[in-house]
Amino acid sequence: MKATRELLPPSARIFVAGHRGLVGSAVVRRLTADGHQVITRGRDGLDLRDAARTAEFLAEVRPDAVVLAAAKVGGIMANSTYPVQFIEDNLRIQLSVIAGSHAAGVGRLLFLGSSCIYPKLAPQPIREDALLTGPLEPTNEPYALAKIAGIVQIQSYRRQYGASYISAMPTNLYGPGDNFDLETSHVLPALIRRFHEAKRDGRDSVELWGSGSPRREFLHVDDLAAACALLLRSYDGDEPVNVGCGDDLTIRELAETVRDVVGYEGAIGWDTTKPDGTPRKLLDVSRLTDLGWKPTIALRDGIASVYAGWQSEA
Ligand SMILES: NC(=O)c1ccc[n+]([C@@H]2O[C@H](COP(=O)([O-])OP(=O)(O)OC[C@H]3O[C@@H](n4cnc5c(N)ncnc54)[C@H](OP(=O)(O)O)[C@@H]3O)[C@@H](O)[C@H]2O)c1
Repeated sequence: MKATRELLPPSARIFVAGHRGLVGSAVVRRLTADGHQVITRGRDGLDLRDAARTAEFLAEVRPDAVVLAAAKVGGIMANSTYPVQFIEDNLRIQLSVIAGSHAAGVGRLLFLGSSCIYPKLAPQPIREDALLTGPLEPTNEPYALAKIAGIVQIQSYRRQYGASYISAMPTNLYGPGDNFDLETSHVLPALIRRFHEAKRDGRDSVELWGSGSPRREFLHVDDLAAACALLLRSYDGDEPVNVGCGDDLTIRELAETVRDVVGYEGAIGWDTTKPDGTPRKLLDVSRLTDLGWKPTIALRDGIASVYAGWQSEA
């Protein structure tokens, strides 16, 4: 790792791909607050799966840096229904943006992957060097393999061309503008919605899938965005960097916290005929904390602000 030369000058112009998404919008807020000129393009004007058009755009705009936060993203249901889109869209977006950036002379690029790249049974907490040491969780294998290809693509540009391109692997994220559609959402917004609707409809109980015993980690997306800004400024290594809060809780504890925040007074039932998934998923974040980063938003406070934001939009 080297951090001596200036990796991201304060005047850097940065293209954020996927700026309307949960992650991209938080990264835009953060980089703008840091004084950078942020460049964005909507999917209507630029489909990032289109390599020729993406290369043309990057050559025209010539940003100093790129944050790749555009991806086909979803929960278990979406991953099992649309495996083709999950592997192909992600591979195509990565190929277009990473190769197009290099061709346009972009000096700095941050690729966002996900903690699902790690083997299903990786030792906990999961270190970055667990990558490619065992079989993946089958339900999101197409997505995870696309993301792994992205990491190796980034490493290859560094090895072959000396490009200062890096990767970050965030844990489960939540935050403003989260997806509350029960078909495609992640667990935390889905819980908020289910408890909110049960309260509104005066129901006695909410039934959730599994036993509630798996342990998971959740990070507010504004903390992730701060980590992305720090990595762009100060990390120039070959290995991906995990981004998480370093702490986990059971799904049962998470559900109880969400229920309290929403103010639902009914019971929580657990349908133990439904699968639990991986027993634990916690990232080892020492590589990132060694750079001086730490999370600032406590889970309960973060959930309360996301719930308030969602209600004010409804
Ligand atoms: N959310 C999480 O919990 C989580 C956890 C770990 C890692 N990550 C990673 O963070 C990154 C972003 O995730 P997210 O949660 O922010 O997802 P998101 O909210 O679904 O946002 C994805 C963004 O990508 C854009 N996009 C998708 N396909 C595109 C295309 N063909 N052309 C142009 N734009 C396209 C979307 O545009 P539209 O707005 O037009 O649809 C959207 O703005 C992903 O790489 C994901 O793996 C997310």
